[in-house]
Amino acid sequence: MKKITIMMSFLMPVMAQAQTTPVYLDESKNIEQRIDDALSRMTLDEKIAVIHAQSKFSSPGVKRLGFPDLWTDDGPHGVRPDVLWDEWEQAGQTNDSCVAFPALTCLAATWNPQLARLYGESLAEEALYRNKNVMLGPGVNIYRTPLGGRNFEYMGEDPWLASRMVVPYVQGLQSKGVAACVKHYALNNDEEYRHQVNVVISDRALHEIYLPAFKAAVQEGGAWSIMGAYNLYQGVHNCHNATMLNKILKKDWGFDGVVISDWGGCHDTEEAIKNGLDLEFGSWTDGLTMGATNAYDNYYMALPYKKLIQEGKYTTKELDEKVRRVLRLFYRTTMNRQKPYGFLCSESHYEAALKIAQEGIVLLKNDDNLLPLNINKTKKILVVGENAIKMMTVGGGSSSLKAQKEILPLDGISARFGGVDYARGYVGDTVQSYNGVKVGRSLYETRTQAELTAEAVEKAKQADVVIFVGGLNKSDHQDCEGHDRQGYDLPYAQNEVIEAILKVNPRLVYVNISGNGAALPWINKVPVVVQAWFIGSEAGEAIASVLAGDVNPSGKLPFTWYASLNQCGAHATGSYPGTWREDYKIIDEEYKEGIYVGYRYTDANGLKPLFAFGHGLSYTTFKMGKAVADKQQMAADGTISFTVPVTNTGSCAGSETVQLYISAVKSKIDRPVKELKAFQKVYLQPGETQNVTLTINADALSYYDEATSQWRADAGKYEAHLGTASNKLSTKCTFRLE
Ligand code: BGC
Repeated sequence: MKKITIMMSFLMPVMAQAQTTPVYLDESKNIEQRIDDALSRMTLDEKIAVIHAQSKFSSPGVKRLGFPDLWTDDGPHGVRPDVLWDEWEQAGQTNDSCVAFPALTCLAATWNPQLARLYGESLAEEALYRNKNVMLGPGVNIYRTPLGGRNFEYMGEDPWLASRMVVPYVQGLQSKGVAACVKHYALNNDEEYRHQVNVVISDRALHEIYLPAFKAAVQEGGAWSIMGAYNLYQGVHNCHNATMLNKILKKDWGFDGVVISDWGGCHDTEEAIKNGLDLEFGSWTDGLTMGATNAYDNYYMALPYKKLIQEGKYTTKELDEKVRRVLRLFYRTTMNRQKPYGFLCSESHYEAALKIAQEGIVLLKNDDNLLPLNINKTKKILVVGENAIKMMTVGGGSSSLKAQKEILPLDGISARFGGVDYARGYVGDTVQSYNGVKVGRSLYETRTQAELTAEAVEKAKQADVVIFVGGLNKSDHQDCEGHDRQGYDLPYAQNEVIEAILKVNPRLVYVNISGNGAALPWINKVPVVVQAWFIGSEAGEAIASVLAGDVNPSGKLPFTWYASLNQCGAHATGSYPGTWREDYKIIDEEYKEGIYVGYRYTDANGLKPLFAFGHGLSYTTFKMGKAVADKQQMAADGTISFTVPVTNTGSCAGSETVQLYISAVKSKIDRPVKELKAFQKVYLQPGETQNVTLTINADALSYYDEATSQWRADAGKYEAHLGTASNKLSTKCTFRLE
């Protein structure tokens, strides 16, 4: 007996450990087993707690079981400064400045998926340092109208381009244990009354234009979370929309991550329970200062949900499914022991931001090769325009940042070219701070417009070249969340000043800062137009390096730059803005242009935009030879490749992007003239030739068949058009699909 007792006491600790080490902590077990175990141990209160917020940007873990809180943050261009626990106001930390990466429109304009990967990885490292587990981005809503207030945060008008760019961004971010939250799913294509708009759209347009980038982010990128959009579809808010979430996202696409509501996008407990929302954020309670105990208890998916379960109206079936997804997110992020340490504002992050900015800048026009500016011959440079001295990392809504540094265009140009002169030219937005972040330089101005114009004109008379840095900014009704632009024209007195300068000095380089196209009425009189986006911390340096020719521009437009709004399908069909703006009720916005978005509309109507989708010049010249297909007949389950030689025929190294568009020669249904289906960027030394091979499969030929709700590629004849812009397709191959 004694002997046995001794043995037992010796064995006890070992046995006890073997029995009580919970599977949910045992890293040798797979995540699904660990989730099952954790779920079986959680109380109803703990389950309810993990599916809604506890502060503006965090939701609780399960303290008793050792799951840490989950921290989200905007996204998508850098890690937003911390706000107070329960307020939008900044917390005033001193360690939350970040690197501001270029806006996603610029990233899309690089047409370089490797840079999207670099972007995701760099952002993740900043997020890790700041202990953020979910980055609220990237955004892939399609650029439907150039008035869209948030287009700058998205990846352009084309579903294929956006898909190719979003996948590596998501993968890069998540490779470091930080979840992407792809937003705003879906059909949030304009900002005005975004909470009231019910989008009425054909299934075909939904699947062919508006969903592909989300689908790619989920299926190829493996996104761990997705954000429901504010607006409605089929009369139901997208944050708890059964078709969008349960059917398309979770069932059809197999999404195993978490659906997070946009902040305040949840409106109904039972819809949220049934229709696929997993995690509720930002509902409009009064914060911690009002309400019974904790205002977060009043969230739709908090006590009201618990009550319905206790009353027997719902079992925990739906709840367990939501918690299971949230736990999966915990294991991928907060509980992920493989994730590296983060670091903030490193040289490598600034290098990444600079590289992306330089590759994304698009040279739209360059008559007489005025650019690059010859630094020896261009002695007197005059910079004009408010955007040359305005910080663009602040403003614009939730993507606003507190950047550790932002090189302004004027400073970048001055540093590169030596003492340049400056004239303000016009007054636009003079705010001194935004969300607690002060703008670097005072924009206070007392002079009249006449005085400002006169100064610019006087100085322009003396200048060898005038660099006008204008465009839009991040204030309301421009490139800014919450509202759309009210017109297509450049704001303020910009056109007037440009016209006045042109009268005395035609050597004008127009640098446009924006996430959208705009009417450029003086375009034929201006020799150079550069699209420079909102490019973050390294803005001035990137712009100067392109103007000086240190960097050979290689960006391509990710959208069609219309000459006027009636070239855009949404406007020409009278769909946007419609009459819905006049009322605060939920009102339909019918996407009457259907699949004819961007170049699909201008092609179909024989319209010539100011600058075509995919357009972008270089300081060198390229020649494309004849494309050759590897076969004439493509099997339905096979592939076909097209090879084309590209030669750098100029005198400096540079990159060109070969773009492949598919046309169906004959089709029983209405199809776009052509659609982008592959592209590849190549870097070539002067005189160098490379063969570029682009491969597609039958997916590239298919359309969404509304009768069967399936993608379908009809047998028949197709053309592959290859070239360097959607309006510059110099070679084609014809082939058949069996
Ligand atoms: C925006 C989201 C953002 C969230 C949190 C919302 O108003 O639509 O994009 O992530 O706020 O700031």
